Amino acid sequence: MGFIFSKLFAKLFGKKEVRLLILGLDNAGKTTVLYQMQFGESKVTVPTLGFNVETVKYENLTFQMWDLGGQSELRPYWRCYYPKTSAIVFVIDSTDKERLDIVKQELFLLLQEEDLQGVPLAILANKQDLEGALSDIEISETLGLSDIKNNQWAIFKTVAKTGVGLENAFKWLTGILAPE
Ligand code: GTP
Ligand code: MG
Repeated sequence: MGFIFSKLFAKLFGKKEVRLLILGLDNAGKTTVLYQMQFGESKVTVPTLGFNVETVKYENLTFQMWDLGGQSELRPYWRCYYPKTSAIVFVIDSTDKERLDIVKQELFLLLQEEDLQGVPLAILANKQDLEGALSDIEISETLGLSDIKNNQWAIFKTVAKTGVGLENAFKWLTGILAPE
């Protein structure tokens, strides 16, 4: 009964709060995604050495967005943030072909984590404005995304710098986290 009321309450007042992690290698565009969602514009970023956290309302959800630093020496700390995570946005620099094998390694490593089982995963094929960017299909094939079995996932073409494609990704996540 309480559950039904809290769901109804969330629906009426948009109070459902969910914890979302923005992950990906350094320079992928994670902080740019965060600022775009928060301010509706991109800001000059510097490499994130710890994390940024912001509360962003989107449709009937309140996202607590954690943007973690993606440099190799910081990645082991991602695990500290996994408990109670409701959604993951995984950002990829679509022009960084040389590091797609590392992307694959990091992605499948985090999907093995117990805390992240069943958590919906929106993968952003970012920097689509740049020449030579791989398409969503190419990235999907290279990473072997069809091997993901325990998480609902989808890949979106994005340009975090201008916000293109972010709406699609967050709409998809919202549809899973707070279905009508
Ligand atoms: P770390 O904090 O080191 O993990 O990196 P990050 O993933 O937070 O990357 P950040 O958002 O700081 O972006 C890195 C660089 O890529 C910045 O110069 C951004 O302006 C640029 N960038 C981000 N998204 C895009 C995009 O869609 N297109 C282009 N052309 N540049 C982008
Ligand atoms: Mg950053």
